[in-house]
Amino acid sequence: MIRTVPRSTWTPCRDAIRIAPSLLAADFGRLADAAAALQDSGAERLHIDVMDGVFVPNFTFGVDTVRALRRETSLPLELHLMIVAPDAHLRTFAEAGADGITVHYEACPHLHRTLTTIRSLDCRAGAAINPSTPAASLDDVLEICDLALVMTIDPGFGGQRLIERTLHKVRRVRDEITRQGVATEVEVDGGVEEENARACVDAGADVLVAGTAVFHHAAGPAAGVAALEAALA
Ligand code: DX5
Ligand code: ZN
Repeated sequence: MIRTVPRSTWTPCRDAIRIAPSLLAADFGRLADAAAALQDSGAERLHIDVMDGVFVPNFTFGVDTVRALRRETSLPLELHLMIVAPDAHLRTFAEAGADGITVHYEACPHLHRTLTTIRSLDCRAGAAINPSTPAASLDDVLEICDLALVMTIDPGFGGQRLIERTLHKVRRVRDEITRQGVATEVEVDGGVEEENARACVDAGADVLVAGTAVFHHAAGPAAGVAALEAALA
């Protein structure tokens, strides 16, 4: 198993904005190639969207895919679980090689317990909110959260347009993190591209998830990462 970034040393973003390519936009028949193309691209982590056809109307990767990707890359694997009742699967995903696990507020009636469990599995814990969920929903878990994910699209599919109105929630979450004095990262996911990357960062995002902008870039995924970085320079 390749693991050159021990979980304990995968520190929150405070020095630079991080790009997290989403494999949802990669060729599913060539995931190993996709991971390899990103290895030295400047991407800081791989974002892996897990969907169950219930929480969102689509299916994607499962535990075996995570296990296979773990063998292919030393980049941290950040799982975004778009599934109902994730608690039953946390240990399985952690043992498959996840470095971080993000669950949805809307799927977790006992979110505090779920995040605590993720941390107990030696993974970074993330909490996500959909576009229709108020930012304040995360206020009382930020102190046990390594990452707050503000969805900038309705989850389930790549290639959608960023919903402008979600950016005020990014600002709201960022301000609350500052107010509480915690080290939680703010991540945005959905419709992030060169044209709006700066607005996401200005709103308070530390981590930009990007699927289409990276994997559909005409010059390949590494160029897609570079283009996003250039848009922020
Ligand atoms: C969608 C996923 C996103 C998706 C983003 O539910 O959570 O991570 O891959 O893809 P783009 O960047 O194409 O919007
Ligand atoms: Zn995602």
